[in-house]
Amino acid sequence: MGLTRRDFLQSAGAALGALALPSLSSPQGAGSRPLAGTGICTTLPPRAAGAAQFELVAGVCSQRIRPAGPETEIWGYNGSVPGPVLRFRQGDTLDIHVRNALPQVTTVHWHGLRVPNAMDGVPHVTQHPIPLGGTFDYRYRVEDSGTYWYHPHQSSFEQVPRGLYGMLVVEEQKPLPVDREVLWVLSDYKLGDDNRQVEDFGRILDFGTEGRHGNVVTLNGEAAGPHRVLAIRPNERVRLRLLNAASARAFLVEFAGHAPWIVTHDGQAVPPHPVPDGRLLLGAGQRTDIVLDGTRSAGEFAVLDHRRGGTQLARIAYAGKAVRSKALGRPAPVALNRHTEVNLDRATDHYLVFEGGVKGAPAIGKVDGKALKVEEIMERHGLAWTMNYTAQHEHAMMHEPLFRMRRGEHVTVKMINNTDFEHPMHLHGHFFRVLALNDVPTRHREWRDTVMLDPRGSCDIALVAENPGEWMFHCHILDHAAGGMMGTLVVEG
Ligand code: C2O
Ligand code: CU
Repeated sequence: MGLTRRDFLQSAGAALGALALPSLSSPQGAGSRPLAGTGICTTLPPRAAGAAQFELVAGVCSQRIRPAGPETEIWGYNGSVPGPVLRFRQGDTLDIHVRNALPQVTTVHWHGLRVPNAMDGVPHVTQHPIPLGGTFDYRYRVEDSGTYWYHPHQSSFEQVPRGLYGMLVVEEQKPLPVDREVLWVLSDYKLGDDNRQVEDFGRILDFGTEGRHGNVVTLNGEAAGPHRVLAIRPNERVRLRLLNAASARAFLVEFAGHAPWIVTHDGQAVPPHPVPDGRLLLGAGQRTDIVLDGTRSAGEFAVLDHRRGGTQLARIAYAGKAVRSKALGRPAPVALNRHTEVNLDRATDHYLVFEGGVKGAPAIGKVDGKALKVEEIMERHGLAWTMNYTAQHEHAMMHEPLFRMRRGEHVTVKMINNTDFEHPMHLHGHFFRVLALNDVPTRHREWRDTVMLDPRGSCDIALVAENPGEWMFHCHILDHAAGGMMGTLVVEG
């Protein structure tokens, strides 16, 4: 046993890295698609501790999405969708040189990580957008382990569904013992019969309803379906990192014939527990790591998504000799990141009320300081939603923060959804505890950065305001964010 797991990841990564490199200097990358071409069970390029600066190029390229017909022109990082997996060990320094080869200005946001505010990648709030042909260096210490992702925060309702997203993995100092790690990035594309992307971004109809959904669900950048295979050996233990990178779609995933354990939500450890009702909800932007044991000896089992009429995402196929004589039992918990416990007795209470949408009850809101009815907000401003009775333009310099907190302040926020739509609400720069959903206390009071709010539902969260700066708080249905469900919180000091 000369090889440690890490050595193995690095050598596997080196092989893949060689494939990926040619596209670094030319973002057009002539059809180069290092990740998508390698199947769904790939160990992806790692980033070594303290490695030299890594270049991430956002550009236009083409990639096979549907199994038949022509390739599709997409926007991707380093010539592929998803972009390269950025892998770190907790405590490493991320040092990434981003180059913009897109026909639009852009930024890169590191979803979930507690970064210094200036590294958060939000145009006009934390940095100037990166101009065409321009560059920006992101550099910070990676404090939190877990499954994260990166994507633009500029025109995200267009740039993300065109293909600009990738996974960022931070290994725990002591990783969970598993036989293998598998990464699944779920998303969708809206393609015509000619396999071209339908370029209908930014429609008010999508802003004001459930967001723009694609017609082709993707797994690691290529069409999902029964032809996508997760090969597993009897009694093997796999850690499956799941990310929903779709701009609007939620997934409700079932692993037929299996009973995986949830070990983290949004990268934060929870006591290992079976998936409730066997169906795992992944709202846009959310991640969950599961431990999947090959508890069957042979056969094939469907991985299903139960949302929107149901689709098969992939199949689990047994192959090979048993890894051990018996499947393993409940996994050990993942090490929890540093979180300051919230003292609810001395917490300041805040609220956030969401209104609007095309079917919404009459609501009123302020845009640029002027009070308007929601219909007027739509007609005059192309906005569809309000947060605490204000609607903000995505690209505006943010005017008034939703509320301010002192550094070190303990805070609860009650979110009330007065709309007929669900909203995955995401806070930058912090994790929060999910105390209750629809007034029912949650079993694990999980730490998350993105929480799904049911239509007409409510959610109670709590946090300690520890990271100074102005932080976005927005819906991760990116059409909703662009349609007004975007605001900021300020941590002073
Ligand atoms: Cu995933 Cu504000 O972003
Ligand atoms: Cu929303």
